[in-house]
Amino acid sequence: MLTLTKILTDKTAAAFESCGYSADLGAVTVSDRPDLCQFQCNGAFGGAKLYRKAPRMIAAEVAEKLAADPDIAKAEAVGAGFINIDLTDEYILSYVSEMLADENVGIPQAEKPETIVLDYGGPNVAKPLHIGHLRSAVIGEALKRLVRATGRTAIGDVHLGDWGLQIGLVIAELKERHPEWDCFKEGFDPAGFKGVGLTADELNEIYPFASARSKQDEDFKQKAKTVTFELQNGDPAYNLLWQEIIRVSVADIRKNYDALNVDFDYWLGESSISDKYIPELMKILEEKKLMHESDGAMVVDVAEETDKIDIPPVIIQKTDGSYIYATTDLATIIQRNNEWHPDEIWYVVDNRQSLHFTQVFRCARKAGLIPENVKLEHLGFGTMNGADGKPYKTRDGGVMRLELLFGMVYDYAKGIVDKSTHSAEEDKADIARRVAVAAIKFGDLINHRAKDYVFDLIKFMAAEGKTGSFLLYTVARINSILNQNGVPESFDSKAVYTDSERAVLLKLALSGEAYAMAYREKAPNMICEDAYRLADCFAKFYHDCHIANEPDADKKKAWINVCAAVKKVLEKQLDVLGIETVELF
Ligand code: ARG
Repeated sequence: MLTLTKILTDKTAAAFESCGYSADLGAVTVSDRPDLCQFQCNGAFGGAKLYRKAPRMIAAEVAEKLAADPDIAKAEAVGAGFINIDLTDEYILSYVSEMLADENVGIPQAEKPETIVLDYGGPNVAKPLHIGHLRSAVIGEALKRLVRATGRTAIGDVHLGDWGLQIGLVIAELKERHPEWDCFKEGFDPAGFKGVGLTADELNEIYPFASARSKQDEDFKQKAKTVTFELQNGDPAYNLLWQEIIRVSVADIRKNYDALNVDFDYWLGESSISDKYIPELMKILEEKKLMHESDGAMVVDVAEETDKIDIPPVIIQKTDGSYIYATTDLATIIQRNNEWHPDEIWYVVDNRQSLHFTQVFRCARKAGLIPENVKLEHLGFGTMNGADGKPYKTRDGGVMRLELLFGMVYDYAKGIVDKSTHSAEEDKADIARRVAVAAIKFGDLINHRAKDYVFDLIKFMAAEGKTGSFLLYTVARINSILNQNGVPESFDSKAVYTDSERAVLLKLALSGEAYAMAYREKAPNMICEDAYRLADCFAKFYHDCHIANEPDADKKKAWINVCAAVKKVLEKQLDVLGIETVELF
């Protein structure tokens, strides 16, 4: 479906043209003074320069043409040359009705549907998920859904950190704790390996321990590095143990993401490209003579003359022969291009990694790893802070585990849901989970992704304002209205009875614009903002128009139609944000 501003722009462009002016002057936007009009066009000012005529005169001519259009209730020239436009109620009603019948609920669909790979999540195997991974998961999931909602193809890849020193640290520590394990003994037979019975709790304890130890114990650190190197070079015992670590750890990571309604199409890791694409990367870099030695490591220079800051060479292979973070990212670009043929790759990763991506992208371009026209983009994000404005920490100053944070929000939500008399006991745990996810995700996504924000549980859980709870309440309130009055079969309203009702209808009709803008800006906060405004408009309408005791049957029916329409549009918006709604609350 076309958006209303597009439809009105076409009409206004035609009006400019039929008055003898350029059609390019016809751009219509949503009014920034909704008290005066619904839409506006400021094209007469541009026309004034081109045709050396007073803008007011041009506006008057165009407005007169527009006013003759049966879909337009009002078109008038005001002030120095603005054109104010209102649509007829009939037109708004028919547009909303068409939206509700549309399988995409009026979301404008891409003309050229690109394929976009989204690299998000980025958890590390053998390390517990912590709140640093939250934003990537929440923003990446919303962006993926936004891409799909606009008719494009999205491929979500978690890009597990399963390859680096963290695995070496864990294995080296396990080796010291369990020298009796077969896999650590001389003459180990890989065919007979039955696993060592690792648990996620054990892994979550071992990694922080081994990591802290390596900072004080140089000998241990060296051992971990050796293990990492041997693992990367195919040591069979380490490989089997590593696979078990991945299995246990990924199951635990999945559990956390499931709770958050975050999902991936591919669970590939940094290691998945090691056999095929790292050798291919090395071959390309060698053939193109891009690598040189620097302090024993192999590096590629990526500095450019116009750089204002120092962009150091990217390290491809370390002195000990091991490959690092940038190497796996480069090889993964080849894999994604070969296997998925994307038009764009988006990396939803912390702002603090921006230098890394600058280096990787430059190196990829220099080596021609991907066609020039495929866009590589780092969509960075800010940190989630505590009340003190510093990155959110546990009481004792540690990094907070995602499970703990989620548990805290869940307990708070459960406390509220437990008091509710609207829902059955057995549903309360799932309702509380959804309320908690809505609070966490909306609290995050309402901020532009590039900005830091403060995690404030009380604020995030508030029943009013820009919160997930307010939106879930709105949907639940509509559900109970529809339960009492029946769900309308179709949107068949013929008239609009009140101003607050008209405001909701217009807001519904404009929801497509927000999607188009959010996609363009890669900014899910625009969907949050729009969903909030719709819910807010609905609250005013609900307050004004007393559905339950309205004696006029036509009016009552029209208002129930409005309720059902708001529910449908809000549910779609929340779904795009990765937020599940609740039936009753
Ligand atoms: N595992 C990384 C980390 O925890 C994030 C991965 C981001 N994605 C990427 N392609 N580098 O920092």
